[in-house]
Amino acid sequence: MLRFHLLFMHFLTFTILSSCFTATAQQGHSNINIGSSLSPNGNSSWLSPSGIYAFGFYQQSNGSSYFVGVFLAGIPEKNVVWTANRDNPPVSSNATLFFNSEGRIVLRSTEQGQDSIIADDSQSASSASMLDSGGFVLYDSDGKVIWQTFDHPTDTILPTQRLLAGMELFPGISKTDPSTGKFRLKMQNDGNLIQYPKNTPDTAPYSYWTSFTDGKGDNVSLNLDENGHLFLLNSTGFNIRNLTEGENPTEGMMYLMKIDSDGIFRLYSYNLRRQNSTWQVLWESTNEKCDPLGLCGFNSFCILNDQTPDCICLPGFVPIIQGNWSSGCARNYTAESCSNKAIEELKNTVWEDVSYSVLSKTTEQNCQEACLKDCNCEAALYKDEECKMQRLPLRFGRRKLSDSDIAFIKVDATASSNSGKPFSRDGKKAQRKDIVIISCLFVALIILILATFGIFIYRYRVRSYRIIPGNGSARYCEDIALLSFSYAELEKMTDGFKEEIGRGSSGTVYKGTMINGKFVAVKRLQKMLAEGEREFQTEIKAIGRTHHRNLVRLLGYSFDVSNKILVYEYMSNGSLADVLFTPEKKPNWVERMGIACSIARGILYLHDECESQIIHCDIKPQNILMDENRYAKISDFALAKLMKPDQTRTFTGIRGTRGYVAPEWHWNLPITAKADVYSFGVVLLEIICCRRCFDQNLPEDQVILEEWVYQCFENGNLGQLIEDEDVDKKQLERMIKVALWCILDEPSLRPSMKKVLLMLEGTMDIPIPPNPTSFLTTI
Ligand SMILES: *[C@@H]1O[C@H](CO)[C@@H](O)[C@H](O)[C@H]1NC(C)=O
Ligand SMILES: *[C@@H]1O[C@H](CO)[C@@H](O)[C@H](O)[C@H]1NC(C)=O
Ligand SMILES: *[C@@H]1O[C@H](CO)[C@@H](O)[C@H](O)[C@H]1NC(C)=O
Ligand SMILES: *[C@@H]1O[C@H](CO)[C@@H](O)[C@H](O)[C@H]1NC(C)=O
Ligand SMILES: *[C@@H]1O[C@H](CO)[C@@H](O)[C@H](O)[C@H]1NC(C)=O
Ligand SMILES: *[C@@H]1O[C@H](CO)[C@@H](O)[C@H](O)[C@H]1NC(C)=O
Ligand SMILES: *[C@@H]1O[C@H](CO)[C@@H](O)[C@H](O)[C@H]1NC(C)=O
Ligand SMILES: *[C@@H]1O[C@H](CO)[C@@H](O)[C@H](O)[C@H]1NC(C)=O
Ligand SMILES: *[C@@H]1O[C@H](CO)[C@@H](O)[C@H](O)[C@H]1NC(C)=O
Repeated sequence: MLRFHLLFMHFLTFTILSSCFTATAQQGHSNINIGSSLSPNGNSSWLSPSGIYAFGFYQQSNGSSYFVGVFLAGIPEKNVVWTANRDNPPVSSNATLFFNSEGRIVLRSTEQGQDSIIADDSQSASSASMLDSGGFVLYDSDGKVIWQTFDHPTDTILPTQRLLAGMELFPGISKTDPSTGKFRLKMQNDGNLIQYPKNTPDTAPYSYWTSFTDGKGDNVSLNLDENGHLFLLNSTGFNIRNLTEGENPTEGMMYLMKIDSDGIFRLYSYNLRRQNSTWQVLWESTNEKCDPLGLCGFNSFCILNDQTPDCICLPGFVPIIQGNWSSGCARNYTAESCSNKAIEELKNTVWEDVSYSVLSKTTEQNCQEACLKDCNCEAALYKDEECKMQRLPLRFGRRKLSDSDIAFIKVDATASSNSGKPFSRDGKKAQRKDIVIISCLFVALIILILATFGIFIYRYRVRSYRIIPGNGSARYCEDIALLSFSYAELEKMTDGFKEEIGRGSSGTVYKGTMINGKFVAVKRLQKMLAEGEREFQTEIKAIGRTHHRNLVRLLGYSFDVSNKILVYEYMSNGSLADVLFTPEKKPNWVERMGIACSIARGILYLHDECESQIIHCDIKPQNILMDENRYAKISDFALAKLMKPDQTRTFTGIRGTRGYVAPEWHWNLPITAKADVYSFGVVLLEIICCRRCFDQNLPEDQVILEEWVYQCFENGNLGQLIEDEDVDKKQLERMIKVALWCILDEPSLRPSMKKVLLMLEGTMDIPIPPNPTSFLTTI
């Protein structure tokens, strides 16, 4: 049967070739010997005997660059079925491909300067052949096959080719770019054929299509025959599932199965005998184009527009790169505080569920309220009376008309009322426009009134401030709601400064109780720089104006000649140092990533979103406090200006470590926000590895965390850093890369906190970091 088929193909393609395929200067050889070569401008490919398939250079659709692969040379649409080294950049027309004397097929291009080997096999070949099946094969001197493209599929399976257990297909990035795209089709060892996004674990929550054949034995394979029959065979050769039934044998029909860049895999047919034939889709894994998980980037979801998938940002979010779906969306930042939020509702959308907390047997209303009340909650997924609270980013979003899932997204209360709702929930656009205009006018009016009122209040307050005496009982300080305490009051609140809960370079902290029973942390500052009342008040005002859920709130202060005291909200779970370095309290990976992002958000706020930039100058785990929900908040910010300089720098001076302190401190260079980025980088490494940046109890090469991390990074051995903890490898690599960028010696090379956060959240690509080890030589 196969032989007949091939004979037929010979005959058929002979006629086709002689009629429409005479112009190109290709050779008809199928036996390729050592010494042969190809180049884009000369003999550019080796044809199979029938002339249908060819191996060699194919042109990228944009013209001037080429890839090497197997393609259909015998039809007008020269579809590519296999690409060599698909993730390497394309080559120019100056490239050459040759079968060298060592028995390897090598691609040499002038711009890359280095040869790349096409068939990565240690054995050397003595001949090669482009077969009519579409396979390109290398043989040893005995004529035995030592390597073939069929064993290394990229995105396509041809008739007689098999996808064996453990093998995967990856689509191209787009129709014209063959580099590895975002999805995969895996023939699993458990017998299931499954589609997943790239870089996800092989587990059910990530699969978006399955053949439901698990438990059918080891070594199940996916097969395609010459009649378009796509099926799964178990290891004893029994057909366990038909994906397609196949067609009656028809002369000149060709089939191929391909996973397309949209994440769906399809069976195509092409009729060689028909004039102007095109590829027809005979079958596809799904016709729901939004099904492939991860089609849209973070914080956006997929929606069908006339059968074409489209990505839409969550309410309150904007695309990170306009026109690029995969880049995802980010919050259109305004000052981040926990209050003044509202909830927007998205019906019929489904998301990846990585809830940190679940309320069961609850109503939609309660779910919304619970999320609003919880500062950690950025969104909640509601279904079947279950409310699943989420942090950002939300992944794998898509609309499913048949589902009852609702997503509640937290947005700024002000933004939601005037954002004009970019989401088409129904067709009444005109009406909505009116509403938008009216509400805009309304909001404008309110703003005007508020502004007038505000100016009035401001004037009044400023005038009245001057007559407030310098000390006395609790009262409000100018335009910020800070309480002013007398020393005697604080003495009473802390029971005579009895319970010490912390001691740092800036002072000692005591536990206190307010009249309403709430606990507070009372900090007695030492060695103040700003001695006068005026300077002290100015600095305190700056701190008092900061409102962010990742910063410890300053509640009040006390000031007299000998005592300068700050009153903060009480954080019941101690410091990050406590949590990270106490084995029983060690947070899991997901919690740790949450902590890292929280700290980054807090620092970003200090750097970019305050009235005047605040550089913390002393970011370290001891200064990150944990509230009762183990939510991280930064403390002691803005104290740098209040303290004498030597109080803010903690040198360790041991063998090249500088702890959390950026090198510019030692070099007497101006201190910028990048000094905090450095310290954050060190803290991030500690969060990842759950160990201190300097630990003499460890083996020699691990003592200095930065050095050890870079060593592991260079050796591609990141698993060592987290011992046997089960973490997402890609995420781990991303975190390490971010940290390595942060701890570069040169301040200008370190990313800004904004970039750091985008990189942590995975919404921005991270280049390979350079080696930071100059820290060995700088002290
Ligand atoms: C193509 O190959 C043929 C046969 O090997 C050879 O005669 C011809 O010169 C080659 N053409 C070019 C442009 O190299
Ligand atoms: C063609 O695309 C490749 C990669 O996508 C790019 O490197 C090359 O510059 C492009 N060439 C032109 C002429 O646009
Ligand atoms: C090809 O090589 C020639 C000469 O070596 C050079 O002038 C030309 O710029 C190269 N073309 C490309 C596309 O690299
Ligand atoms: C293959 O399937 C057949 C029929 O279902 C079954 O009898 C046989 O045991 C299976 N082989 C293996 C190795 O599971
Ligand atoms: C599956 O294939 C592997 C490797 O080819 C082989 O070691 C194993 O015995 C096979 N299992 C079965 C059940 O055939
Ligand atoms: C698959 O289809 C073939 C005919 O094409 C049939 O003989 C076989 O029983 C079918 N197998 C299953 C599992 O449906
Ligand atoms: C085939 O295509 C050509 C040009 O693309 C057109 O002129 C011709 O009518 C087409 N023939 C058929 C049978 O569709
Ligand atoms: C879109 O964004 C992703 C991730 O940010 C990036 O990898 C990709 O190259 C971008 N694509 C285009 C066409 O710009
Ligand atoms: C938010 O987005 C809107 C429109 O996309 C833009 O006009 C506004 O400046 C943005 N706000 C911030 C704070 O970036």
